[in-house]
Amino acid sequence: MKKNFVVDDNSINLTTAEEALSQQYQVYSLKSAEFMFEYLKSVIPDLILLNIQMPDIDGFEALKRLKNSTQYAKIPVIFLASKNDPAAEALSFEMGVIDFITKPFSAPLLLNRIKTHLNVEDIIRRRTNKLVKQQNNLINVLANMIENRDKLTGRHIERTTECMKILLNAMFERGVHADQIKEWETDITPSLPGFHDVNDMSTLFEAAVSSSRLHDIGKIAIKDFILNKSESLTDDEYEMMKTHALEGERIIDSITPESGGGIFFQNAKLFAGSHHEKWDGTGYPRGLSGTNIPLQGRVMAIVDVYDALVSDRSCKKAFTHEKTVEIIREGKGTYFDPQLVDVFLEIHNKFPEAELMCQ
Ligand SMILES: [Fe+2]
Repeated sequence: MKKNFVVDDNSINLTTAEEALSQQYQVYSLKSAEFMFEYLKSVIPDLILLNIQMPDIDGFEALKRLKNSTQYAKIPVIFLASKNDPAAEALSFEMGVIDFITKPFSAPLLLNRIKTHLNVEDIIRRRTNKLVKQQNNLINVLANMIENRDKLTGRHIERTTECMKILLNAMFERGVHADQIKEWETDITPSLPGFHDVNDMSTLFEAAVSSSRLHDIGKIAIKDFILNKSESLTDDEYEMMKTHALEGERIIDSITPESGGGIFFQNAKLFAGSHHEKWDGTGYPRGLSGTNIPLQGRVMAIVDVYDALVSDRSCKKAFTHEKTVEIIREGKGTYFDPQLVDVFLEIHNKFPEAELMCQ
C-alpha cells in the first residue's frame, strides 16, 4: 500500500484527509512539519500533503527544506491552502509542488488528485528503471570491450567491482565519507519514493560501483602492442600508457556531451581520471595530493592496486594476499588515503573471496 503523509496543525483537517484516503493508502497524520521531519528518518512516503499555514515551520519553509535535501527532494508534495491565493499558488509551483489544493476540499476530489499524481510517478519510475537497465547494459558492453583488448588483466574489472562493493560498504558502515558516497547516486537510483528503501544501500552501491567499471576505459585509445606487451614498458611506452587516465575522461565526456551525463557519468569520469593519483602527489595525470584527489580515485586506487598485485602480470608473478596487504599498509599516507587504508585493513580478508568469485 502506498504511503501518504498528511501534515496539518488542524486536527479536523487531518481527520477529513485520513477518512478520505485511508481506504486506499497508508496515511500518516502528522501535526507539524517537525513531526514530518522526524518521521522521514524512518519512512519515505510516496506523497506529502502539506498544509501551508502552520505555526513554527510553515509549509513554504518545510518545502524549502525538503527540496534542499538530496534524500527527500524528489518526494512529490501537494500544498493544502486555506484560501485561494494566486500569488502563493504561483510561488508554490515555482518551488516545486506538484499540486495546490484549496480547503475545504471534498474527499473524492482529494482522492482523485492524489491518484492522478501517483500514477504519473509510477510511469516515471518504470521509465527510469528501464533507462537505468539500458545504461547498465551499455556500461557492461564498454567494460567488456576494455577487457577484451587488455588481455593481460583478464577479469580485472569484474574483480575490482566486487572488491569496490566490499570497501564502499565497509566505509559506509563506519561512517567514513558516508555522506559523500550517498551523494554519488542521486540520479541513477532516483530517490523517487518506493524506488528503494532509504536505508537500503545495496542499490546505491550497485550504481556507484557500476560507474567504476569504466575506470580503465581510456585504454581503448592505447595501442595494442603497449597494452599487451609481455616485457616491461620503456619510459616512452609507460608515458603513453599513462595517458589512459585523461583519455578515459575524454571518452566519458564524449558519451554524453550535452547533458553532462548526470552524476553517474560524473562519477565514472572521476574514477577514470583520478585512479592513478597518489596521496603524496606523485601520481598521475595531475599530481593531485591528499583530499584534492576525488574520493572515487582514492577508493579505486586501493582496489586497483590490490587486484594488480594479487594477479599474474607479464612483468611479475602474483603476490600472496598477505604480502599485498603489507604493501598497501606500507603505502598508507604516501600512495593511499590513510583513512581508507585503515578501513581496508579491517576488512581485507573479504577480498580474496570476492576475487575468487570472478575467476
Ligand atoms: Fe588504470
